[in-house]
Amino acid sequence: MPEPVRVLLTGRHGQLGQALVAHAPEGIALIATGRDSLDLADGAACREAVERHRPDWVLNAGAYTAVDRAETEAELAEAVNAGAPAAFAEALAAVGGRLLQVSTDFVFGGDQGHPYAPEQPLRPLGVYGATKAEGERRAATALPPERLCLLRTSWVYGPVGANFCLTMLRLHRARAAAGEPLGVVADQVGCPTATHTLAEACWRAIQQGLSGPHHWSDCGAASWYDFAVAIGERATACGLLERPAQVRPISTADYPTPARRPSYSLLDCTATRRALGIAGRHWQAALAEVLAQVPPPPA
Ligand SMILES: NC(=O)c1ccc[n+]([C@@H]2O[C@H](COP(=O)([O-])OP(=O)(O)OC[C@H]3O[C@@H](n4cnc5c(N)ncnc54)[C@H](OP(=O)(O)O)[C@@H]3O)[C@@H](O)[C@H]2O)c1
Repeated sequence: MPEPVRVLLTGRHGQLGQALVAHAPEGIALIATGRDSLDLADGAACREAVERHRPDWVLNAGAYTAVDRAETEAELAEAVNAGAPAAFAEALAAVGGRLLQVSTDFVFGGDQGHPYAPEQPLRPLGVYGATKAEGERRAATALPPERLCLLRTSWVYGPVGANFCLTMLRLHRARAAAGEPLGVVADQVGCPTATHTLAEACWRAIQQGLSGPHHWSDCGAASWYDFAVAIGERATACGLLERPAQVRPISTADYPTPARRPSYSLLDCTATRRALGIAGRHWQAALAEVLAQVPPPPA
């Protein structure tokens, strides 16, 4: 029997981390860490974890993901999003092993009208995106290219954790009951990505030894408004909601946030889908699969 592939996972309690644990394929020996066992803001602890466990891969799914709070907590966001991948990459460079660094569409500026290719220059708009871009850069400086896989993704959601889909389910329920509409931003376009399809892509990337910058999202395109409407309709069809709230399109200017967001962040996933041998599915099909995993609200 071949030796199992040893994978040191970070962020095990995050929404992607939970899907990675749930979907780990056979042949993977998982060393799953969370904030309780490995503080990503502590570079020395990250290096020491690699030296102790000697993994074949570090799968860095943990991150500082509070996009708006990052604007006022830049130091912590930088330590977690740039310091941890740098520390992992430096330790792996010394003892052997590869890094799969999960990154984000927020490294791009959102000012082009066609999907971003993996090799395009980065132009983050806010602190969160800037720290993730810096994590990519520092990992690429420390590790030879064939030992680093950067996998950028977008609009991640799943049946657990803090995400747009679960927030919308709560808001649909409350607004429909109150007979009030729900305003959702319609002028930001991207693609929702379900945690289970992203987890499958991560595991396939490790199994195939993928390297280089890559993009992974579900297929198609949507605004947040489109996504909110689809969540309401599908959740009603599968019995999670009695009825959807009326969703009203609003503009970014109507919903000011501390951090600027890219208005267009579609990722070109063509080469990655081909390399991984995964056709991908439309975000609406993935949404139906996620909603099937969401428990009904208490009666
Ligand atoms: N969410 C999105 O829409 C989105 C979009 C594009 C890319 N991404 C990327 O996808 C990856 C997974 O994100 P996600 O959506 O699963 O995020 P998430 O649900 O917020 O999970 C992030 C995890 O990182 C952990 N973490 C944060 N600071 C830490 C620290 N100092 N030490 C140890 N652990 C720490 C968190 O721990 P606690 O649970 O204890 O807080 C959490 O479990 C990240 O790299 C993110 O940048 C996400």
